[in-house]
Amino acid sequence: MVADNVGGLNDTGLELPLTHSGAAFMRAQKVIPGGSMRPSSWFPPHPPYALRGQGCWLTDLDGNRVLDCSNNFFSLVHGHAFPPVVEAVREAVGQGTAFGLPTPSEIALAEAITGRAPHLERVRFCNSGTEAVMYAVKGARALTGRSAIAKFEGAYHGTYDVMELGYESSPENWDGPDGDPAATPYVRGTPPGLIAETVILPYGDPARCADILRRKGRTLAGIVFDPLASRIGMIPASAALVEVLQEACARDGIMLICDEVIGFRMAHAGAHSLFGLKPDLVALGKVIGGGLPAGGVAGPAARMAVYDHTHGKPGVALGGTFSANPLTMVAGKATLDAYDEAAVSRLNALGDAFREATNAAFRAAGLEAQLTGMGGLFRLHLTGRVLRDFRDITPTPGGEALARVQAALLASGVLVTPNVSGALSTPMTEAETTLLGRLMVDCVAEALG
Ligand SMILES: Cc1ncc(COP(=O)(O)O)c(C=O)c1O
Repeated sequence: MVADNVGGLNDTGLELPLTHSGAAFMRAQKVIPGGSMRPSSWFPPHPPYALRGQGCWLTDLDGNRVLDCSNNFFSLVHGHAFPPVVEAVREAVGQGTAFGLPTPSEIALAEAITGRAPHLERVRFCNSGTEAVMYAVKGARALTGRSAIAKFEGAYHGTYDVMELGYESSPENWDGPDGDPAATPYVRGTPPGLIAETVILPYGDPARCADILRRKGRTLAGIVFDPLASRIGMIPASAALVEVLQEACARDGIMLICDEVIGFRMAHAGAHSLFGLKPDLVALGKVIGGGLPAGGVAGPAARMAVYDHTHGKPGVALGGTFSANPLTMVAGKATLDAYDEAAVSRLNALGDAFREATNAAFRAAGLEAQLTGMGGLFRLHLTGRVLRDFRDITPTPGGEALARVQAALLASGVLVTPNVSGALSTPMTEAETTLLGRLMVDCVAEALG
């Protein structure tokens, strides 16, 4: 099937050498480095180009309709073109898209977030998860007067320079001279000073974390922590790790920064509430913008006062021309209103049942594969081993076979991220997750076979 509104490419009636997506990619290469805007959604020879989405289905330029389990990297909890979001944005856009003044819509979204997460008493908005983590890091520095930051090996927190350290370490460079995990730079030109004062922690080894923090904790402004870090394998953080972090933060006056850019969707009150965490600052993004660019920093009032600019120079200037723009604010509010306790529980239960059933099917078929994750989030690993850490999935178990699974899923009508992770959305039912589970098992069998 060829989409009817992509314009003329097929007008000749001749067989085209390229798909419409292929033609779009060739055009893009002339004006965009690499022909692609986002490393995370890239896979060879090129991804299909999206045309439109409705609910949990996405249609590409060539008219292929796929079950969308990427959901724009877990940001669309209600899927595409969710009617309350469309309605709210339609109404807001006619009134102006951004003002050099505050709007009531920012108060409404702030109330929606603080109203569902009692630990988050105050919130400030920005435009992306990367910005949110950056502002949280700056907040931690201003609150403590220290500059060093700790983060976990392999964890992704956006593209803010310090947060990229240790993110893509490999066996050749992941041990530092002192035997601790190294702050391996992701990009050339990373300032050596940043590398020298960034502490990298091993997610799967709480005792080692405790030891590192005993030695280095007093230098730290903050620890950035995602309790279900997707690039560490979507392995839920252990209770022992949570205890170590909280203890070190209390002992050494370190700010605990919880990255809930993905995780906020996991519980009505956010991921920290599920893991018994009491973070000083929480970085938000994705779901709080209802599909529009969004980020935010939230936390207890005393900590968030560091961003208060109304009594002279603030600890941290958190602003931005498009921060709290009304379109994002109303889309986020409509999204969170519909993502109430019942919707959160239903989606989490659907995801738990999906992972459990699919893992049982992998075992029954004798396939070396497993889904990790929690609630509506999942990630595939081509190994039956127990996974605890970034090092357990580096190099990627199954390597090229995993890419074959992603390609086979796409060919079967399912879009997942290039590392075969995904998120369910509220329009999905057991019908979609059963289909997804069956295709997952078939595609793994084919890729490993
Ligand atoms: C855990 C986490 N933190 C931060 C970010 C950065 O968010 P953004 O892409 O909105 O800048 C991401 C993006 O995927 C993320 O997964």
